Amino acid sequence: MRHLIEINDLSVEEIEELIEVAKDIMQHPENYWDKCKHKKLATLFFEPSTRTRLSFESAMIELGGDVIGFSSASSSSASKGESVSDTIRIVGGYSDIIAMRHPKEGAALVGSIKSEVPIINAGDGGHHHPTQTLTDLLTISCEKNRLDNLTIGLCGDLKFGRTVHSLISAMSRYKNIKFILISPDELRISEYVKKEILDKYNMDYIETKNMEEYMDKLDILYMTRVQQERFFNEEDYLRLKDYYILNESKLEKAKKDLCIMHPLPRVNEISIEVDDDPRACYFKQAKYGKYIRMALILKLLGINYTRRKI
Ligand code: CP
Repeated sequence: MRHLIEINDLSVEEIEELIEVAKDIMQHPENYWDKCKHKKLATLFFEPSTRTRLSFESAMIELGGDVIGFSSASSSSASKGESVSDTIRIVGGYSDIIAMRHPKEGAALVGSIKSEVPIINAGDGGHHHPTQTLTDLLTISCEKNRLDNLTIGLCGDLKFGRTVHSLISAMSRYKNIKFILISPDELRISEYVKKEILDKYNMDYIETKNMEEYMDKLDILYMTRVQQERFFNEEDYLRLKDYYILNESKLEKAKKDLCIMHPLPRVNEISIEVDDDPRACYFKQAKYGKYIRMALILKLLGINYTRRKI
């Protein structure tokens, strides 16, 4: 039995396989309609979500399976003090696979230890969000046709943004990746990400506060929201929340084939005028999330699939 707690639980080969299966599902959805018949996915969301929870549920339904779960801690027995570990053991008796989001770092790992069914980490605090990273990798593969030789700008809240940490971790395994880390001083990438990934794997990276300084060099611009829920101080959040607002004028020097990504939800950090720019990929990115989660459910349930050569 396999769990997915962080992106590096999957090898590069397994990620490539998932991406190929997801592409095949996009092309031939009818081949997958009954692959999970009589299987149940439980979505245990102790923290709010739109894309992750609903794309998981949609993924399971499109595979012919069923879905149970809750969408807030207050509607579960966590509100009576039940531990994550106990919740997982109980729900494992009602379902075949569990996707779980929790505000505490490490919650999915703790839950997986006694679990009798595969656990998918759908976000644990400011730590990991591996299925967002799979979504991001599928988006990059579809939009740029490669996962190596890329200059990637990561902009915004690089301190608390778990999607950024997981993406850096994933991309550290591909060749010739350069990161431009764009953030205010207060939201710079954490020292542990530098030490355990960027420096450890000798990655090429530059830190800057200026969003436009390297705009002409970027193949991908990955915008992020300032994570209000992780701030201790409302004043700091209000001061930093609109530090970067991407608009058309800031894209003047950008490459014609730049891919603009954002895990969403967006607040103000991408002006709506950018939505009509052909380089805006973030709504497509959210849709890709459903297909990669379909591929992941099949893999973790050990269900055979027909895959055609892409
Ligand atoms: N990208 C993402 O995790 O979105 P949700 O919080 O809506 O699930």
